[in-house]
Amino acid sequence: MDFGKTPKIVVSADIAPNEAVQLAEKLLPARDKIAALKLGSLHAMDVGLRETIKMMKEVSDFPLIYDHQKGCSDIPDIVERQVLLASDCGIDAVIGVPHGAGPRSLERFCTSCKSAGIEAIVLLEMTHEGAHDYHKEDTPRKIFDHIMELGVRNIVAPGNKYERLREYRKWIDESGSEMKIMSPGIGAQGGQAEKAVEIGTDYPIVGRAIYLSEDPLKAVEEIYESAVRGYEKR
Ligand code: XMP
Repeated sequence: MDFGKTPKIVVSADIAPNEAVQLAEKLLPARDKIAALKLGSLHAMDVGLRETIKMMKEVSDFPLIYDHQKGCSDIPDIVERQVLLASDCGIDAVIGVPHGAGPRSLERFCTSCKSAGIEAIVLLEMTHEGAHDYHKEDTPRKIFDHIMELGVRNIVAPGNKYERLREYRKWIDESGSEMKIMSPGIGAQGGQAEKAVEIGTDYPIVGRAIYLSEDPLKAVEEIYESAVRGYEKR
């Protein structure tokens, strides 16, 4: 699926399933500023992904991303079953880190998403300090080159590590691809939507700064305005 005009916000609804549904209802007036709602492992471990999606679809038509939160990093057969099950539950896109289990798992993640008709989103780099200290220096580039070959259209890169974000944007621009960058790390982890979008983020991923806000709708609108300002400076 295409998440549409950039920039827009991916709302990370890391709260209890019924609260996530209430949040979706509250955010309906900002439908055009929201690329998708992101559901996660907490929902799967609570009432289940299928039930959460069913409840969500009763009140809203937001595109839904499933983020198993560092999921899809297993043997290729299990990766495929995770993707197909998420798709069967009614999800539109899945975020995974399949390369954590090597190139074959990454390939299976992409081919399964394709055959299920859902969008593959690959997390390339995390936001917290030291997250990739065990990687070799050229690891992100190798993964990037491989996902380009596989036709991945969306990556996740840190919205609070501006130099890294700049690097990913440069790789995408040099490749001439239309690949989009989704970025967590904004708000609760210090990244600023305006700055991240100016540098390279297309879709800020924001959770706590929205769902913990007294007025989540206003929070989305403010983050969106800030993202638009960043986009105009590109
Ligand atoms: P917050 O509340 O920090 O939620 O806005 C972020 C969401 O994004 C998911 N996620 C990450 N978060 N660094 C993060 O801070 C990452 O590298 C990352 N990758 C994904 C997180 O699980 C939460 O749902």
